[in-house]
Amino acid sequence: GRVVVLYGGESAEREVSLVSGAAVLASLQRSGVDARGYDLAAGGLSGLEALAPDRVFIAMHGRGGEDGTLQGALELLGIPYTGSGVLASALGMDKQRTKQIWQALGLPTPESIILSPDADWPAVVERLGLPMVVKPVHEGSTLGITIVDSLEALQAAYREAARYDAAVMAERFIRGEEYTVSLLGDTELPAIRVEVPSGFYDYEAKYHSNETLYHLPCGLEASTEQALATLCRQAFDAVGGRGWGRVDVMRDAEARFWLLEVNTVPGMTDHSLVPQSAAHAGLGFDALVLRILATSLE
Ligand code: DAL
Ligand code: MG
Repeated sequence: GRVVVLYGGESAEREVSLVSGAAVLASLQRSGVDARGYDLAAGGLSGLEALAPDRVFIAMHGRGGEDGTLQGALELLGIPYTGSGVLASALGMDKQRTKQIWQALGLPTPESIILSPDADWPAVVERLGLPMVVKPVHEGSTLGITIVDSLEALQAAYREAARYDAAVMAERFIRGEEYTVSLLGDTELPAIRVEVPSGFYDYEAKYHSNETLYHLPCGLEASTEQALATLCRQAFDAVGGRGWGRVDVMRDAEARFWLLEVNTVPGMTDHSLVPQSAAHAGLGFDALVLRILATSLE
């Protein structure tokens, strides 16, 4: 049957999604799948229905694509789709509630608080220490995130994050190494350690820089990497994730892991992490895309 690859949309990650979606669509077509692409911003759900898809491959990042709203619409239309369902998608898009669930289960995640425009800024600094991380609660690709070094910088960071989202959070900063684990079906793919010589794995480092280093194998001892994989699986299961996803983690100077967030529609650009990890496990991009497509029927 026909597959429609959904991409674009109106989120702040639209441009990333267009790249992910084009890569996925070209891959499906190489594999001989009857696939079409569709930008949800161009014609909405009625245009999608007119294409009479048998299945949808969701290559949309951020709100309106990754956050459960699209998944709910597809449920109502009776069209199978890739990846997580309504609840896990909505939770994964909400970094604060994701952390509350992890904390309730005893999974390690840095302390955080929701900020308001009239927050007691010195009290926030007192509680979380400096530096701290200020971020929109529902956003991706590091958009709107600032690492704050001083009390003076905190309010400006709040305003920057608030450009993206009505909900803004501050999180304790974990100094150390950054890891990510991709989940595909029942498999945890090899962990990647991301190293950014300039310091911060931001939008530029994710999609434009050629200086970002992707350590694969990640350099951890086998038993430690296994523990990391298990932690990430628990973190994904905790929000009810399904099919595929990616969990981002910090490792501090004492070798403790700290969960940061879940991505239920990870990037699929040629800089992206899931395709790199899959390739290291022997799964090329086309095989990966077919495997993700299969999650729509599981
Ligand atoms: N939000 C971006 C697309 C990612 O997690 O890869
Ligand atoms: Mg993310």
